[in-house]
Amino acid sequence: MKKIVPLSVMLALASPMVIAHEEGDFFMRGGLASVMPNESSDNVLNTGELELTNDMQVGLTFTYMMTDNVGIELLAATPFTHDVSTNGLGKIAEVSHLPPTLMGQYYFGEADSKYRPYLGAGLNYTTFFEEKGFGQLNNTEVELDDSFGLAVQAGIDVEVNEDWFFNASLWYMDIDTEVKTSVGTFDAEIDPYVVMIGMGYTF
Ligand code: NI
Repeated sequence: MKKIVPLSVMLALASPMVIAHEEGDFFMRGGLASVMPNESSDNVLNTGELELTNDMQVGLTFTYMMTDNVGIELLAATPFTHDVSTNGLGKIAEVSHLPPTLMGQYYFGEADSKYRPYLGAGLNYTTFFEEKGFGQLNNTEVELDDSFGLAVQAGIDVEVNEDWFFNASLWYMDIDTEVKTSVGTFDAEIDPYVVMIGMGYTF
């Protein structure tokens, strides 16, 4: 009796190994990014420290793999907006910012691993804009200094097929600023966690 190997089995055996990330790859991730401030500040006129709300926006990362394990990544996003308040004064301002972050990353595993967890370290630049006074500071000028600081990161990419992968990542950013208002200038550390969940595409 002749044994016939079905064509589909032959094709499956012959199909090339799927590669997750390898040297020379350029990929982009997009998803929802949430900035969760871990703030502390001067006491504002004995009404408490400045408190900031969380905000979720669209996050994008662009990564180039220099080797199978080392990547360089730039984080970009649509602007984040936070309400600023103190316990005693309630909401006193609204601020928007962009936190572009450049990371050097190490990806664990091999180029053909389905799961590529990674760690990164780098620099964050945060620029604040559209600062607006509210409540007690209504119609007064509020200004936040831009910040330049360290950032660290952990994440994982899970291969879906040759082009697409799933991603979850977490950053911790050192964002320190001076909040200048009509009632005084206050040092504030925003130091947020940023969580992003989304999909990636390899070009
Ligand atoms: Ni800080």
